[in-house]
Amino acid sequence: MTETQQKYTVTAALIYANGPIHIGHLAGCYIPADIYVRYLRSKGADVAFISGTDEHGVPITVKARKEGKTPQQVVDFYYEQIKKSFTDFGISFDIYSRTSNQSHHKVSQEIFTTMYNKGYFDEEVSEQYFDEVAQQFLADRYIVGECPTCANPNAYGDQCEKCGSTLSPTELKNPRSTLSGSKPVMKSTKNWYLPLDRMQPEIEKYVNSHKEWKTNVFGQCQSWLKDGLRPRAMTRDLDWGISVPLPDTDGKVLYVWFDAPIGYITFTQEWAAQNGKNWEDYWKNEDTKLVHFIGKDNIVFHCIIFPAMLMAEGSYILPDNVPAQEFMNLEGDKISTSRNWAVWLHEYLEEFPNKQDVLRYALSANMPESKDNDFTWKDFQTKNNSELVAIYGNFVNRAVVLTHKFFEGKVPARGELTDYDKETLATLAEFPSKIGDSVENYRFREALANMMDLARLGNKYLAETEPWKVIKEDPARVETIMNIALQIAANLAILSEPFLPFTSEKLRTQLGVSSVTWSEAGGADLLATGTQIGEASLLFEKIEDDVIEKQVKKLQESKRLNELENMKVPALKENIQFDDFAKLDIRIGTILEAEKLPKSDKLLKFLIDDGFEKRTILSGIAKHYSPEEMIGKQVTFIANLAPRKIMGIESNGMILMAEDRDGSLALLQPNKKVWNGGTVS
Ligand code: MF3
Ligand code: ZN
Repeated sequence: MTETQQKYTVTAALIYANGPIHIGHLAGCYIPADIYVRYLRSKGADVAFISGTDEHGVPITVKARKEGKTPQQVVDFYYEQIKKSFTDFGISFDIYSRTSNQSHHKVSQEIFTTMYNKGYFDEEVSEQYFDEVAQQFLADRYIVGECPTCANPNAYGDQCEKCGSTLSPTELKNPRSTLSGSKPVMKSTKNWYLPLDRMQPEIEKYVNSHKEWKTNVFGQCQSWLKDGLRPRAMTRDLDWGISVPLPDTDGKVLYVWFDAPIGYITFTQEWAAQNGKNWEDYWKNEDTKLVHFIGKDNIVFHCIIFPAMLMAEGSYILPDNVPAQEFMNLEGDKISTSRNWAVWLHEYLEEFPNKQDVLRYALSANMPESKDNDFTWKDFQTKNNSELVAIYGNFVNRAVVLTHKFFEGKVPARGELTDYDKETLATLAEFPSKIGDSVENYRFREALANMMDLARLGNKYLAETEPWKVIKEDPARVETIMNIALQIAANLAILSEPFLPFTSEKLRTQLGVSSVTWSEAGGADLLATGTQIGEASLLFEKIEDDVIEKQVKKLQESKRLNELENMKVPALKENIQFDDFAKLDIRIGTILEAEKLPKSDKLLKFLIDDGFEKRTILSGIAKHYSPEEMIGKQVTFIANLAPRKIMGIESNGMILMAEDRDGSLALLQPNKKVWNGGTVS
């Protein structure tokens, strides 16, 4: 089989349809997958790029409950939103489908049945946690507790997000239900288990035949294997999901991690049917390479559990590679949907129209390949201004502008070459394989840096040959120089396509380069002599400080709002007796005078008509009310608080206020005017 016909099935994780896409998802999975796929296509490989949404499981039902919607409403909304933002962002899936499709239910049930008939499931009655308040078994994310490995107090029943261990609910310490918050009880139920323990030798053999996997991936697999695999239930007591295709299962559904990866297969079938292809070529042909792009929290499922399912089923190829990324943080803090600490793709696309490639570039340059990394808006600005504008954009612009200036925009002929020209062309010729090697080995940052080196080569070539000076004495020499500069630009258009597809397209249009075939790149004849090139148009523009500051402010504000929303009311004080209360003399009075204290920004001094006389009370509300707006208001105050001297003034009582969650204060006033000195009881 020749290189150009090699088949690839490339998948990108099926994200839960319970929230929008953020930059962590992009950097951790979709951008590397898209770079890889665009590169393979450019090499002439036969690729199926498959993804979609994961629409079952507890994450969906939890979200539905929180929003007071049905699970179907939740997944319908997010499927459309996610799909649109991927399209607008230029992720070049061949199909973006969803696991709630009937076709997927059918495929999942068939695979379950095949495994069942081959005797691959152990039926087991076990005690599971049950929430007596909500009357429901508590699978996966319906239960939280302390992680036995890292003591994270909020580990889920299926996984600890802090240390990455896979868990079962019974391993959690101090478990509590996320539905009612109650302490769950044990109740027996029947489920079907995949005997990973018995399959361990087979799985170990498979994993060990892939020593080329990334260190983080291979290492995680080894540690699970070392701990010893345990049987894992492939069914759940839930009312949302794909029914278990067996009689008398009391409405049980397939475990979401059973059906979701099968989605890759279903979606390939859907795509093949729509495009006159044979799906089995992509899943059952030993020569096809199956590659899963995922984030590190999905490693065990793609490297151990899904391969075990495929082995048990028996007729599928196994993943050839699982290039998992670590996590992308944001401004020094872990990205979190629930804390609203994220840069959302759909918002970015609205606020930065036509700047898809800038985000792609910033995220690729910092891709968390071997360790967690951090996205900051400041760095985003620098990557744009100092690299895309100053290196890539600058080179292309100079090449195009000078060609228009000297040769009316027509590609001049290449004459006799100097040693430096030859050296430059030789260097140029190395770029396709250099960039390609990095991509094929999943080293995307290195690949991107190599691509930018090509733009640097172009800049350096123009700087050293100085066509703007030479034009006066030797216009023929400048023809050669501009020809070479334009050939470099044309190469850049092709070789940057996997990383910067929108820019590549613009540049190809500008130069009149139609194809993006990797094998044509590297040469110096991409542009024929005499070709008319388009006017220079800016590929990138500078991003100013105020744009960046606005984004940083927006993040801080959303964090603040979120903290307020999640704030708990203060704990209740100890009980008191009625007599304790009766000792308080609470009254209504009217404010006659109000003034600021000169040396305090907190205190206001009031003169209050209390029904007997005028009394002075100091109150710390200057930040919430102005003296003027207090005058004439009735207030509630404690009349028998012993006098206290504050800043040299005697205060005779205390005005009562309610405190809101953001710390602001509100006066307590009777809801009709009452007489001054009226008591409160
Ligand atoms: N929905 C999972 C997540 O967002 C990923 C599922 S990937 C697949 O973490 F393999 F199941 F498809
Ligand atoms: Zn943990």
